[in-house]
Amino acid sequence: MLSIRRVRVDEWEAVRDLRLESLSDPLAPIAFLDTRASAEARSDDFWRDRTARAAESDDGAQLVAEDDGEWVGSLTVLLRRPGATDHLHRTVAHPSADVVGVWVRPTHRGDGTIDALLEAAVEWAVAHGAQTVSLDVHVDNHRAQGAYRRFGFRETGEVTQSVAGRELRMTLQAERSGRAADRPSLG
Ligand SMILES: CC(C)(COP(=O)(O)OP(=O)(O)OC[C@H]1O[C@@H](n2cnc3c(N)ncnc32)[C@H](O)[C@@H]1OP(=O)(O)O)[C@@H](O)C(=O)NCCC(=O)NCCS
Repeated sequence: MLSIRRVRVDEWEAVRDLRLESLSDPLAPIAFLDTRASAEARSDDFWRDRTARAAESDDGAQLVAEDDGEWVGSLTVLLRRPGATDHLHRTVAHPSADVVGVWVRPTHRGDGTIDALLEAAVEWAVAHGAQTVSLDVHVDNHRAQGAYRRFGFRETGEVTQSVAGRELRMTLQAERSGRAADRPSLG
């Protein structure tokens, strides 16, 4: 049975392993701004620090999809406060959140895992004051675009250049989605 939860501080090895697996995905070059080689070169302390923030920070959270105890997908939601600069060096206009690092294991693609992860991300973002939830998706990543569009994300018309190439900005009016209203809090 599938459930979504936030990672815990002591799970840094699982966080590292899932990241390495996602960076090995054939789609990784257009899905992520990092490479497996650079991730493999990082120290245990890097993964401990990253996992501590992902587990406990008020600025962002990493959520995992768990199926019978096995992690089968993940994303990270990052809060953006007005005046701050986001990961593509844009100035943030209103309280918002970005979703990054989205990955679902191939065995769980097309089965709703991505929707459950996005629902939980929106719930966490709204609970922390975000008015919109946005993401950047590579112009050639049509499957990801399809999943985001089905969930309710819409293209803003903004196209940016990242190390991965040209990316479309997609956004969702978080306060209007109402999707997460009945879900228990993720903490
Ligand atoms: C992106 C990802 C999380 C999406 O999850 P998923 O379970 O595969 O998504 P789904 O299959 O539920 O939805 C994909 C949608 O795109 C459509 N789609 C699939 N391939 C497509 C293509 N080549 N062109 C256009 N649409 C396509 C599907 O029909 C579906 O839409 P529908 O339900 O309206 O029919 C997953 O594919 C993944 O982990 N990919 C590798 C990493 C990645 O790309 N991450 C995103 C970085 S922004």
